Amino acid sequence: MITITNLSKVYKTEDVQTNALNEVSLNIKKGDFVAIMGPSGCGKSTFLNILGLLDSATSGSYKFEETETIGLNERKKSDIRKKNIGFIFQNFNLIDELTVFENIELPLIYNGIASSERKQRVEEIMEKINIAHRAKHYPQQLSGGQQQRAAVARALVTRPKLILADEPTGNLDSTNGNEVMNLLAELHREGSTIVMVTHSSYDAGYASKIVTMKDGEIFSETHSEQRKDIFEKADSKNFE
Ligand SMILES: Nc1ncnc2c1ncn2[C@@H]1O[C@H](COP(=O)(O)OP(=O)(O)OP(=O)(O)O)[C@@H](O)[C@H]1O
Ligand SMILES: [Mg+2]
Repeated sequence: MITITNLSKVYKTEDVQTNALNEVSLNIKKGDFVAIMGPSGCGKSTFLNILGLLDSATSGSYKFEETETIGLNERKKSDIRKKNIGFIFQNFNLIDELTVFENIELPLIYNGIASSERKQRVEEIMEKINIAHRAKHYPQQLSGGQQQRAAVARALVTRPKLILADEPTGNLDSTNGNEVMNLLAELHREGSTIVMVTHSSYDAGYASKIVTMKDGEIFSETHSEQRKDIFEKADSKNFE
């Protein structure tokens, strides 16, 4: 679904140059659940924002399905983004002046969906995410977990091919965090493709692949079967 080859991102300010990403290559298949980990400043958010076509790389190749996205103009990128990608942010990023219903509806308006279909799709996703009883509330009137569930609903309402999440549980206590992770795990089981940045190895345990980054580079890639193997070996040692 996604093929990234030698992708680099250089931020230039007046006197400093930061190599936020340095020749990163990664394949993401349909149905993958990828967790990206690594120390603060290693380039995780930069990478996710480029994946989401919110930011552009300086060099390299990023193919989304059959389309090379490097060099596309903003309009084309925003077209691909609106149709294919749903975002979940650490600080939820809901619009305070809009109700839960209206926040979830917004991406459908951007996609030019008619009002009656919007209503049906927002209601359907609110039921699924268990937030329907708060449809008329404003974000400030919700708990953190409810705000993040509304944000997940907003990310999903367009039925995106790719879900991107930047520390989705970072501002949640463990109960609300687990609820959001269980939701992502369920979406993954249903076939969604998810890329999630996290500092939590517990949350990363939900993923099918863990990618660790260091200084703008990919340091390691581990698949869940390999992890299981490592855990089983560790377990059998304990019983020896
Ligand atoms: N707009 C920008 N202008 C200049 N430098 C930037 C910009 N955005 C990010 N950087 C730099 O790029 C590097 C990578 O930043 P990034 O936000 O991707 O890190 P991160 O891995 O997400 O960190 P964290 O875990 O703290 O969120 C950092 O050194 C950061 O200072
Ligand atoms: Mg970050």
